[in-house]
Amino acid sequence: MISKSRWKLLAMLALVLVVMVWYSISREDRYMELFYFPIPEKREPCLQGEAERKASKLFGLIPFSSPPYQPIFLQLKDYFWVKTPSAYELPYGTKGSEDVLLRVLAITSHSVPESIQSLKCRRCVVVGNGHRLRNSSLGDAINKYDVVIRLNNAPVAGYEGDVGSKTTMRLFYPESANFDPKVENDPDTLLVLVAFKAMDFHWIETILSDKKRVRKGFWKQPPLIWEVNPKQIRILNPFFMEIAADKLLSLPMQQPRKIKQKPTTGLLAITLALHLCDLVHIAGFGYPDAHNKKQTIHYYEHITLKSMAGSGHNVSQEALAIRRMLEIGAIKNLTCF
Ligand SMILES: *[C@@H]1O[C@H](CO)[C@@H](O)[C@H](O)[C@H]1NC(C)=O
Ligand SMILES: *[C@@H]1O[C@H](CO)[C@@H](O)[C@H](O)[C@H]1NC(C)=O
Ligand SMILES: *[C@@H]1O[C@H](CO)[C@@H](O)[C@H](O)[C@H]1NC(C)=O
Repeated sequence: MISKSRWKLLAMLALVLVVMVWYSISREDRYMELFYFPIPEKREPCLQGEAERKASKLFGLIPFSSPPYQPIFLQLKDYFWVKTPSAYELPYGTKGSEDVLLRVLAITSHSVPESIQSLKCRRCVVVGNGHRLRNSSLGDAINKYDVVIRLNNAPVAGYEGDVGSKTTMRLFYPESANFDPKVENDPDTLLVLVAFKAMDFHWIETILSDKKRVRKGFWKQPPLIWEVNPKQIRILNPFFMEIAADKLLSLPMQQPRKIKQKPTTGLLAITLALHLCDLVHIAGFGYPDAHNKKQTIHYYEHITLKSMAGSGHNVSQEALAIRRMLEIGAIKNLTCF
């Protein structure tokens, strides 16, 4: 028979144990390891160069990373020491814009941040501006990627729960620039200029060098005062626009002035991600059906498909290209496409 005092001792021990367990769970620190075995977060395997390999096969591309090596961002030495001739004018090349580009490259930067370069496998998400992000609660999932690429003036402030808050890179052109870039970006966000025309280089030059602003030559008034650190500015290599147009959309490189079709910033961002990243996920891509005339197309503003008319973007053709990439698994989608 166990004596009463033994029972008491056992009860005391049990109590101490319960308190210890409770303590270790309630405080996520040094006692944690004693009792808690974390289940490793289920992450998709990330194979180096996988996204690019698949996309290259699909579109008959030469992998971007094989020679002749194409830098992601334009760099001064390619225009200063060795004059690399470009076959096309903007937006597919830099032919004829070399002088202004030289001045812009002298005051901006071209490096890919060490924090991205050093990653063994780069997991990226391209956040489109589509209305499907509304009420998606994808914010936390988006923030977990190594690289978050955003487009144009898509806001973050006030939409964090659905679109996240981290912005590694933002692709934009003067007419689509956030008027207050500090509010919608992180201090270290790379602001990646996508130049469609020579005026776009002039715009960034007048802003950064505080020269007399030019107001003509834009289809919408871009910011005249734009507070950014020039070291955060990058100029996207027009090569990506060429690939997106030529390989993904089969657009003719030389088009009559009146037609001028071009890829959207979204498709361009996917093209860039296929090159920069090993795993490419997309969210907020896709437009409403053509008959759905009242549906807004963006998560943050009330404009409909009608506003796309005359933009030079063929939305249905882009959807086709993205579908094909999804089908072969070169990219994956987080929202219904
Ligand atoms: C999002 O959720 C809010 C509140 O539940 C609702 O009022 C709104 O209609 C939803 N918006 C969309 C686009 O589903
Ligand atoms: C857009 O692309 C679709 C599908 O490729 C094609 O049928 C249509 O003619 C294109 N529209 C224009 C305006 O070029
Ligand atoms: C995209 O993702 C959603 C949700 O995960 C899924 O339901 C849908 O089938 C996917 N669409 C495509 C085209 O893969």
